[in-house]
Amino acid sequence: MSQIYEAIRSFWLPEQAATSAHVIDAPFMFILIASTIMLIGVTFYLFYLPWKYRRRSSADVPYPVKENHLLEMSWIVIPTILVFIVFFWGFKAHVDTVVAPADAYEVNVQGKKWLWQFNYNEGITTTNELVVPANRPVKLIMNSVDVLHSFYVPEFRIKHDVLPNRYSTVWFEAVRADTFQILCTEYCGTGHSVMGAKVIALGAQEWNEWVASGGGKGIQPGDSPVELGEARYTKNVCNSCHSIDGSSKVGPSFLGHWGETRNFVDGGSAVMDEDYTRESILYPAAHIVEDYQPVMPSYQGQLSDGEVYALIQYIKSINGADVPATFAEGGFGGDGDAGGADAADDAAADAPAAE
Ligand code: CUA
Repeated sequence: MSQIYEAIRSFWLPEQAATSAHVIDAPFMFILIASTIMLIGVTFYLFYLPWKYRRRSSADVPYPVKENHLLEMSWIVIPTILVFIVFFWGFKAHVDTVVAPADAYEVNVQGKKWLWQFNYNEGITTTNELVVPANRPVKLIMNSVDVLHSFYVPEFRIKHDVLPNRYSTVWFEAVRADTFQILCTEYCGTGHSVMGAKVIALGAQEWNEWVASGGGKGIQPGDSPVELGEARYTKNVCNSCHSIDGSSKVGPSFLGHWGETRNFVDGGSAVMDEDYTRESILYPAAHIVEDYQPVMPSYQGQLSDGEVYALIQYIKSINGADVPATFAEGGFGGDGDAGGADAADDAAADAPAAE
């Protein structure tokens, strides 16, 4: 019996990769099975009764129909009981998945058009990668900086609206170290379909190492700024709005504008150089290029000085400008300065050491 149940469940639902996934699956399966039984019963009588009471000869005359109290009570009482079971079972499942255990590890989640940003208590920030310890409850405290988004991890059975001007919470405990898909499941505009991310659940030792390394963001002397910039271009999802082939997406392409004069919607203009590019990454609303919308989120506090520098070098390299091959000794710090809220504030004071 339980094998049949498991076969049906795994046909409809993805793997149960969180400890509380069965809490959602059980009422889902109850509704599925109860609905199927009722569908079969109703469909059967829909065909059987007209056939049974069909008119057999022209002499057939219908009987007057009297009420049947037992029948009427049954179709009132049975569905009412079913609906109450679904309500209380579903309500309990909702509470169980929303109210986190007291010892849960907390992560702040921000939904933005169109990426997910994760802020950790250790001062680490990641974009589109939620790194968590496996086999430990994780509580997400979520809000949006613009429109409604919805945080959805199918394997964990968590799906929760992420709203501006309000925090919502949900929790999960990954059953093993692995990578799982995060989706935005509330239509939020042009980039909704690319607003995907990953949960990366790490074993205890890898988790401790990841935290100790400041999220693995340190820059070492000898690293290539262009390679780092290219990695950030994908990892921080610049690529969802900025192409590198000259085509316009939500924002202007990274190819073809370096050194050009850019005209702004407010009538001003500026040459696209290092300073302008840095400002556009950290304070995107400061100057909006003609024909574009002010939709870019700020990367202030999310990218270290070194990463902003690397992105600028990457953009320069696409456009054929000269760029340094490596970061120099004593250059940008390797101590995970990306997460500090003051990282961006210091940015203006620091000159790139590699030049
Ligand atoms: Cu965010 Cu859809």
